[in-house]
Amino acid sequence: MKIVLPGGSGQVGTVLARCFHDDGHEVVVLSRALSAGPGASPGASKWRVVSWDAKNAGAWHREIDGADVVVGLAGRSVDCRYHDRNRRLIMDSRVDSTRAVGAAIAAASRPPRVWLQASTATIYAHRFDAPNSEADGILGGDEPGVPDTWRFSIDVAKAWEAAAKSFTLPRTRLVLMRSAMTMSPDRGGIFDVLLRLVRFGLGGSPGDGRQFVSWIHDRDFVRAVRWLIERDDCAGPVNLAAPEPLPFREFLRELRGAWGARFGLPATRWMLELGAFVLRTETELVLKSRRVVPGRLLDAGFAFEFPEWRAAADDLCRRWRDRLRGIPDAPTD
Ligand SMILES: NC(=O)c1ccc[n+]([C@@H]2O[C@H](COP(=O)([O-])OP(=O)(O)OC[C@H]3O[C@@H](n4cnc5c(N)ncnc54)[C@H](OP(=O)(O)O)[C@@H]3O)[C@@H](O)[C@H]2O)c1
Repeated sequence: MKIVLPGGSGQVGTVLARCFHDDGHEVVVLSRALSAGPGASPGASKWRVVSWDAKNAGAWHREIDGADVVVGLAGRSVDCRYHDRNRRLIMDSRVDSTRAVGAAIAAASRPPRVWLQASTATIYAHRFDAPNSEADGILGGDEPGVPDTWRFSIDVAKAWEAAAKSFTLPRTRLVLMRSAMTMSPDRGGIFDVLLRLVRFGLGGSPGDGRQFVSWIHDRDFVRAVRWLIERDDCAGPVNLAAPEPLPFREFLRELRGAWGARFGLPATRWMLELGAFVLRTETELVLKSRRVVPGRLLDAGFAFEFPEWRAAADDLCRRWRDRLRGIPDAPTD
């Protein structure tokens, strides 16, 4: 198959591109880095990287026309302070790039049979009482008393999905991937950041620690994406999250156990606010309760390799250490 990954140079894109390439598929990543001027390069990779500006039509349309699968992943990182300029970049980079991909598919004489478009599990409401599945989950935005930054993230997620759904694509199945945090041992990814806290003795409970964490192991993420590509009957929003979200304090306790750390200093809400300010990020990433479950995947019989966090954390810690020693990953089957 030919698989095109707009925005596929980041954490999730690299995980997918590596596996698709190992599976023997032709992989093409669309990246702005090549159009950023002399000296800009996304680095040597085993797959082709083609230039686009994530906004306008261009020669990159030729990659979409005749492709079998498109997986849209572009968007400015949300790991930053949500001031006006960053808010605009976070929103526009997602809406504009999604519209650009949709327009390319609409214009193609041989459109891809499936377009998997990144969305986010953050679209659901901050809640503790019950899990959010696609069928009975509550979309966020109307919860009383939640910070304005959380509402902003939900507005982004809704606009992102609306941009993808605004096209009529009779020959292309559209899947909106409402992904939880994808845990991979890659440097700079979310797992690496959480593990750094644990390694430095800071992996105690953030806030009161009751807030739920939804997560997905990278091998299950890849397997779910492969599965969604093959399932011709599956369209619309799909939650990509392990079936067992857990409160943050338990999540970190298991991670400390998997790493072998004896203790972790807890962080109060004001310490987190201060730390987030210093690190130029937002506390939403750790304080919002994301209780998201993969209703559609489970109903359709998808079997998770890592349904529970402790086994996932053991595996991720082992692979994180293996990478330090230069031991390569086993392929995802
Ligand atoms: N990682 C997760 O756990 C997770 C969970 C839920 C949802 N998601 C969503 O899934 C997508 C992929 O995640 P990721 O972790 O791989 O993200 P990432 O590492 O930040 O990579 C996203 C890619 O988007 C492109 N990009 C950055 N700024 C952009 C801008 N202003 N305009 C257009 N493109 C821009 C970059 O590619 P170039 O610089 O090469 O153009 C970058 O490699 C993101 O949209 C993210 O919000 C991720």
